[in-house]
Amino acid sequence: MPSQPVSRRRALQLAAAGLAASAAGGLGLWKGLGDSTPSARPGDSHAPFGEPTPLPSASGQLSLSLRAQETATSIAGAPATVWSYNGSLPGPTIRVRGGDRLSITLENGLSAPTNLHVHGLYVSPAGNSDNVLITVAAGESFDYVYDIPADHPPGVYWYHPHHHGMVADQLFAGLYGAIIVEDPASAPAPIEATRERVMVISDISLDSSGRVRAPTMMERAQGREGDLVLLNGQLSPELSAVAGQRERWRIVNACSSRYLRLRLVGQQVQLLGIDSGRYSSPKAIDELVLTPGNRADLLVTVTPGGAALRTLPYDRGSAGMRGGATTAAVTLATLRVTDGTTAPLAPVPSQPTERDLRGAAAISRTLILAMGAGGGGMGSGGMRFTIDGKEFNPDRIDRSATIGSVEEWTIVNTSAMDHPFHLHVWAMQLVRAGGQPVDSPVWQDVHNVPAQSQITVRIAFDRFPGRTVYHCHILDHEDLGMMGIINVS
Ligand code: C2O
Ligand code: CU
Ligand code: CU
Repeated sequence: MPSQPVSRRRALQLAAAGLAASAAGGLGLWKGLGDSTPSARPGDSHAPFGEPTPLPSASGQLSLSLRAQETATSIAGAPATVWSYNGSLPGPTIRVRGGDRLSITLENGLSAPTNLHVHGLYVSPAGNSDNVLITVAAGESFDYVYDIPADHPPGVYWYHPHHHGMVADQLFAGLYGAIIVEDPASAPAPIEATRERVMVISDISLDSSGRVRAPTMMERAQGREGDLVLLNGQLSPELSAVAGQRERWRIVNACSSRYLRLRLVGQQVQLLGIDSGRYSSPKAIDELVLTPGNRADLLVTVTPGGAALRTLPYDRGSAGMRGGATTAAVTLATLRVTDGTTAPLAPVPSQPTERDLRGAAAISRTLILAMGAGGGGMGSGGMRFTIDGKEFNPDRIDRSATIGSVEEWTIVNTSAMDHPFHLHVWAMQLVRAGGQPVDSPVWQDVHNVPAQSQITVRIAFDRFPGRTVYHCHILDHEDLGMMGIINVS
């Protein structure tokens, strides 16, 4: 084995000790090790912020291939062997519009089965559309076709594998990419911005040979969190921005289990919406919590003085035995602000009022998310992860819903950990949380269900008959059984 640069070994030791994410940020500490390694390459720490290749649709169509493959790359200045789509971390950014046909050939160049999910897209779960019950064996390929409805909500979506039992491993190794559904041309007025950035945040742990480190049983039960938190595959890159400009940031939390609690102190940040939801006017925010799977559409008005994009600790509870899952703060990027000339932009136009299901007649149902000692699958740390007392079984239909109906689901979490609850295809309107009614429409496809708590959501099953899944988006929990099948007909 070639010897590792000293700084990398030390950095990994520090990372393992949870120190790499000190208040100074990964980067400061990295440099502070006092040894600039010859292996540092463009794309590494303090390198300029880079973005995945955009693949925009044209004339209502976008066809592409995604090849899942083992990839030799460099992370934080050291060689790493990851899994990627088309050799890049993250995979290319898919940019489509309502009414488009998106065709993706998934080529499985891995040594394991995989498949593809377009998370959050409001498309059919059947046939060769967003069907996660399909398996694409090693060496094989599959042609997916997604017809995106003309009235699809604009916003930030993403793609990732969904082969049950391997989802966390495959994301953690590097398989993910962003999907942007553009604002409709028919919108009353465009949301003006000087520039746009796509930001896919992921985490990964590497061993001393640069290979992805397998989690322990306890890490799986807890939901693994990587030693390195990456922004578009880079450790703490530097963004340059011009004071006075308005930037649009499209953020994806592609971490397997880590909750992001984002801050950009000193900058003016406005939230357009999370997932497919969009507020009627942008909300000024100081902090943004994104559970695994959530996305945010943000406007940043650049203010002189620079800033750091950081994620702060979030206490999501514990699977027991060894303390909570509170992780250290991490600096994801630094923002260097320069002076420049800025043309004034039009104010953000108000957005269409969102649908509100609160008045609708709805069928009430309850779901119970639970973690219990005893039994459990291989590698679960002796713990069972269930919905309604059952572990996932691909041959069982757990719930049925009728096309055209509205359902109200109360999702009860009896465990000592938070679980981010996700339903494929149909976004969920949050109507009750923390024992209080929610007073305006909040539409997301992943909603957090805090430990020993419950939330209530409403779902309109207007379109798309077929069979799909709902699950905890802590992907280790999903793989360990916290998933069910819904059949809509
Ligand atoms: Cu992000 Cu079932 O998916
Ligand atoms: Cu999904
Ligand atoms: Cu969970």
